[in-house]
Amino acid sequence: MNANTNAQYLMRPEDLPRGISAVRALPDESLDALWGSIIVADNIKERLLSQAILNFALRPKVSRDQLPMHGVILLVGPPGTGKTSLARGLASKLAGYMPKAKPRLVEVDPHALTSSAMGKTQRAVSELFSQTISEQASNGPTVVLLDEVETLVADRSRMSLDANPVDIHRATDAVLVQLDSLAELHPNILFIATSNFPQAIDDAFTSRCDLVIEVPPPGQEAIVQILEQCLSGLARQFPALEVIANSHDIGKIARACEGLDGRAVRKMIVNAMVMNREVAADPNKLTTAHLLAAGKDAKAARSHKEASK
Ligand SMILES: Nc1ncnc2c1ncn2[C@@H]1O[C@H](COP(=O)(O)OP(=O)(O)O)[C@@H](O)[C@H]1O
Ligand SMILES: [Mg+2]
Repeated sequence: MNANTNAQYLMRPEDLPRGISAVRALPDESLDALWGSIIVADNIKERLLSQAILNFALRPKVSRDQLPMHGVILLVGPPGTGKTSLARGLASKLAGYMPKAKPRLVEVDPHALTSSAMGKTQRAVSELFSQTISEQASNGPTVVLLDEVETLVADRSRMSLDANPVDIHRATDAVLVQLDSLAELHPNILFIATSNFPQAIDDAFTSRCDLVIEVPPPGQEAIVQILEQCLSGLARQFPALEVIANSHDIGKIARACEGLDGRAVRKMIVNAMVMNREVAADPNKLTTAHLLAAGKDAKAARSHKEASK
């Protein structure tokens, strides 16, 4: 089954305001499944969910002089470690704790806001927060996904004014001003931001985050679980794969994948299926040897890339 088939979109793509890529009703089964599919240490999920619950329980009741919360969670870590998936899944899991409300997830596309025309980015950013997000939040509890947030809040101290237009500086300023204002006016918003490049984020943004969580690449045990989960899932269509999923070979295959991120581990399985045409035509013919070879290739590609940095 396609994981997106049950997604409940509240707006048609053609009606979305600039800078918004989706508005979804929560909870959403496909997002709950996404949350379940990401293998990370339990305490990461527990802290994320607790912070999200606390945000809606506390902020409407406690003044900002007492607790200076901004309603922002930031997930940082290397690409492919599950940050965007966790952010979407968190929004849905959180909604399970708010049965009377009808929360929604608003996804921001930062790239749609950055414009080469001078002054346009700052204006687009200000409008997005002060109008679009503010309107969404007047409908009820709203989770806003700021994916790849470094695009919106680039570190001003690292930018040379020669190489970067003043506009980008102003965009960062605008986000900070708007976050302060929304924190004051809308205690029913939670921003979940992600970044592959935390070093490129302005410190003033990071200091506004109520929780910063580092999502590490999967360790050996997590890789074993990702492989098992992926192969067992495929076994629903291609039953022979269950044998590999349950065999001792999984440990060996996981070792061949050491150092890969979660996305690369899943992709490795696809690559193993195209080691030859027979397996591609009938994935039931996949063997441990194909998986070991694909794991070795993926690791070699990764170290090649590291060396060329
Ligand atoms: N820890 C993990 N466990 C299981 N799958 C993972 C993990 N990390 C990444 N993935 C897989 O990799 C893909 C990309 O994940 P994504 O959330 O886009 O990562 P990021 O935002 O960190 O780049 C997803 O399809 C996900 O299933
Ligand atoms: Mg991402």
